[in-house]
Amino acid sequence: MAIRLAHFSDIHVTTAPLHWTWGDWFSKRLTSWLNHAIGRGPQFALADEIVRCLMDDLVQRGIDHVVFSGDATALGFEEEVRHAAGLLRVDTLPIPGLAVPGNHDYCTWAAAESGAFERHFAPWQQGRRIGDFAYPFAQAIGDAWLIGVNGATGNRWSWDAGGAVAPDQLDRLRQLLDSLPAGIKILVVHFPVCLAGGGFEWYCRGLRNLDEIVAIAQAGGVNLWLHGHRHTPYYHQSPNGAPFPVICAGTATQRDLWSYGEYVIDGARLLATRRQYDPETKAFHNVESFELILATIN
Ligand SMILES: [Fe+2]
Ligand SMILES: [Fe+2]
Repeated sequence: MAIRLAHFSDIHVTTAPLHWTWGDWFSKRLTSWLNHAIGRGPQFALADEIVRCLMDDLVQRGIDHVVFSGDATALGFEEEVRHAAGLLRVDTLPIPGLAVPGNHDYCTWAAAESGAFERHFAPWQQGRRIGDFAYPFAQAIGDAWLIGVNGATGNRWSWDAGGAVAPDQLDRLRQLLDSLPAGIKILVVHFPVCLAGGGFEWYCRGLRNLDEIVAIAQAGGVNLWLHGHRHTPYYHQSPNGAPFPVICAGTATQRDLWSYGEYVIDGARLLATRRQYDPETKAFHNVESFELILATIN
């Protein structure tokens, strides 16, 4: 039976007041705040209103499952994570969901270790897992599996927007993939395999151990890699660096880029529709469609 997914990412909401600590002034959070305040922050001015509209749209369209690939916040404060989870109706939406954090949600080491993302997004992190560890986890939808992987690490330096999947999580990913019954396997992580033009992320913006992750995904039969991080949406049937297709959701809330993907998966066929926000009508409408075959080339 066909399943209908909605995939959105990089909503970057914020709120006020935010509780700065002394340590924040000596962390990456300070430059992230400067970037947000005098850089792209204004481009997310409508973020709250668009997220509310998005959730109404998903309910109306009869989506079976929502997939959020991270960067819920601007600066990774717990107040922002709580606000984002509230806007997304994580506790009450009548649609099951999957969420993984992005580098902004783990803006600092303290934010990563606080467990704030996992606390507020707990309803969207239910599933099968190895032991009591938060990541990875797998959710069944019909005959398919969604596998949430955490690539965010918390970084020290202002220029570092990269991530990695730690060796212990990689080991559990291998075990989890091996334990799943046959079916389409969709890996969800914040970071891309490759860019829209086919090149790779700069070391300080991408997954530092991408090759290892892709090798484990390939051996475990992954058929599709869903991600965000890059704010312009794109897809590749045969990407550079991986033997399965990839889709970048782009951002759901940044001015003029605001969109999400709706994917109908029937067997190995994925029919995608990109729906874009229109600030005039305050509604989403179709702007693009494409098709992918969910096959792994071994
Ligand atoms: Fe982002
Ligand atoms: Fe990101």
